[in-house]
Amino acid sequence: MTEGAIELPWTARTTRPGLFDPPQIMATLRSERPLRPMTFADGHQGWLATGYDVVKAILADSRFSIRREVAHPPVTMPNAGAQAMFTAPPPPGMFVRMDPPEHTRYRKLLVGEFTVRRMRRLEARIAEVTRDCLDDMERSGPPADLVTALCVPVPALLICELLGIPESTLPVFRQAAATALDGESTQEQIQQAYATMLGVFPPLIADKRDNPTGDVYSGLVNHGGLSDEELTSIGLLLFAAGYESTSGMLALGAFALLEHPGQLQALRRDPSLADNAVEELLRFLTGPSGMLRTALEDVEIGGELIRAGQTVELLVGAANHDPARFERPGEFDITRPAQGHLTFGHGIHQCLGQQLARVELRAALPALFDRFPGLRLAVPAQEIPMKDDSAFFGPKSLPVEW
Ligand code: HEM
Repeated sequence: MTEGAIELPWTARTTRPGLFDPPQIMATLRSERPLRPMTFADGHQGWLATGYDVVKAILADSRFSIRREVAHPPVTMPNAGAQAMFTAPPPPGMFVRMDPPEHTRYRKLLVGEFTVRRMRRLEARIAEVTRDCLDDMERSGPPADLVTALCVPVPALLICELLGIPESTLPVFRQAAATALDGESTQEQIQQAYATMLGVFPPLIADKRDNPTGDVYSGLVNHGGLSDEELTSIGLLLFAAGYESTSGMLALGAFALLEHPGQLQALRRDPSLADNAVEELLRFLTGPSGMLRTALEDVEIGGELIRAGQTVELLVGAANHDPARFERPGEFDITRPAQGHLTFGHGIHQCLGQQLARVELRAALPALFDRFPGLRLAVPAQEIPMKDDSAFFGPKSLPVEW
């Protein structure tokens, strides 16, 4: 074992001093050695990065690969299925797991579809979808679960519209995604769930070939020069990335604002703070799992030598709370300049959907608190069940009343 190597099991990552605080261990590790040796779940001697500068530097460095085939799992996977899929090579089109030049080819096809301008143009539609959800909530009366009433439907409907996926597909897809991510699922159940999700796309591709429309997926099908297999992976990636992470962030954002009434009041008093509030929520609320990169050659970085083949886990939550980058990092303060957080990653894989996520958060959260000025949790905050066992952090449900 490498000298000074630590292990960081899942429980250590999810034991928090307060509801929203990053685990204390992150601060301790970061202040001792922001890039330090870590023993991975399979015994691999790799590294853990917790400092802002070193996390950002590794994400920007082309000597590190994102490919899972060369990486090691940092923690024991929740189930055998997930473990087996960890190091499997990505199917054609699953570009989030590819290095250049393959990654570049796919990313170029999509980047023009997710520009700030295009996402800003969606604002009116996002406001409309949000209004419909809030109308339904108001009609049904309190209490309501904010996750099912608002936080899931807004991003899910939007990604469906953007990709031109029929809304009727949503329940099937969501059920399968829940099974695939559930730590209790067997390998057979996970494989079945993936088959169900992938099965959505071939008929959709055929339909878009016959009846091209103006959505993103139609453009890819008809002008991207991609095979059906590639189109299926890209569809799955965009759909899965497009709602699960944003819905988690929306629910976390509502929860954090409810638990910080001073900040909520400040936002109500000055709506021009909304853009900044979204950045601060993204900085403050990053979840417990990290990104992975593996050195393709020996790399000296942050005063340490990472050998070729060693995997580094990058803990964005720890980086976003680095006092060397953000003053008073443990304070949730919507007036601080929070830009520069690493919640959407950095470098060539930086989140393609970040502007969409921002516009959704920016529209839905103020609208929620405008509609229900007396909104409050319907159970004590400590009883809100958190998805601490998933890559997608956030409350499982968020019961509210007004
Ligand atoms: C709050 C919501 C979101 C968060 C926190 C988030 C976070 C991230 C992060 C950290 C990465 C980089 C992963 C890495 O470098 O290892 C990423 C990549 C990606 N995200 Fe998001 N994301 C969000 C919403 C979305 C949305 C709405 C979409 C919409 C389609 C999306 C699509 C993607 C795609 C396609 C990639 C892969 C980019 C590439 O490899 O070039 N994400 N996301």
